[in-house]
Amino acid sequence: MLRRLHPEQPDSFAFTPANLAWAEAQITKYPEGRQASAIIPLLWRAQEQEGWLTRPAIETVADMLGMAYIRALEVASFYFMFQLQPVGSVAHIQICGTLSCMICGAEDLVAVCKEKIAAKPHELSADGKLSWEEVECLGSCANAPMAQIGKDYYEDLTAARLGEIMDELVAGKVPVPGPQNGRYAAEPLKGLTSLTEHESGKTQYNASVQLATDIGDSVKRIDGTEVPLVTPWTKDA
Ligand code: FES
Repeated sequence: MLRRLHPEQPDSFAFTPANLAWAEAQITKYPEGRQASAIIPLLWRAQEQEGWLTRPAIETVADMLGMAYIRALEVASFYFMFQLQPVGSVAHIQICGTLSCMICGAEDLVAVCKEKIAAKPHELSADGKLSWEEVECLGSCANAPMAQIGKDYYEDLTAARLGEIMDELVAGKVPVPGPQNGRYAAEPLKGLTSLTEHESGKTQYNASVQLATDIGDSVKRIDGTEVPLVTPWTKDA
């Protein structure tokens, strides 16, 4: 698929102060002359801040790393994780369409996206709040079908539950991520068949969901203040 810059672009881009500090810290991981190695984390942080990668953002990152704009654009246009067009202001929904999810109902999830968001992927809903796309395996096959929404995974989905999640997101709520059918993590649906001594002492959520709810950044645009900046590779970490 040919990936191009979106025809409509903002005039400028600037990292928030905290994101700028984070980005400058990442660059120090690499030896002098190898700063371009930081291109992917910096582009990713720009996307986390804005929701998608604008041309000014790509050029800002290229300038920070001393790279020709075309080199940065090559990276941004190569990886499908980089969104080169605006995404929903509330959430971008990525439906896994690979084998396990497809067998377990991914097509039904895509149908909900087409009905409630837009007929085609990468188009905004009428209110601009949601967008969607189909992606390749997200590594949560045991909990198929699933979708990534913002930073988190919503697993064991049904079409009805995905529709409810969309409604909740549009209403300003953030549904708890993780399995949506009562399953704790990725254990058998009927419960543990081994390691049953680990059944007791479970926390309310599995570790991944707990972290998501603790930080509360599932669909939040990242401004860099969510978690403290730590730089263990530097002496003054
Ligand atoms: S097939 Fe959907 S997560 Fe792997």
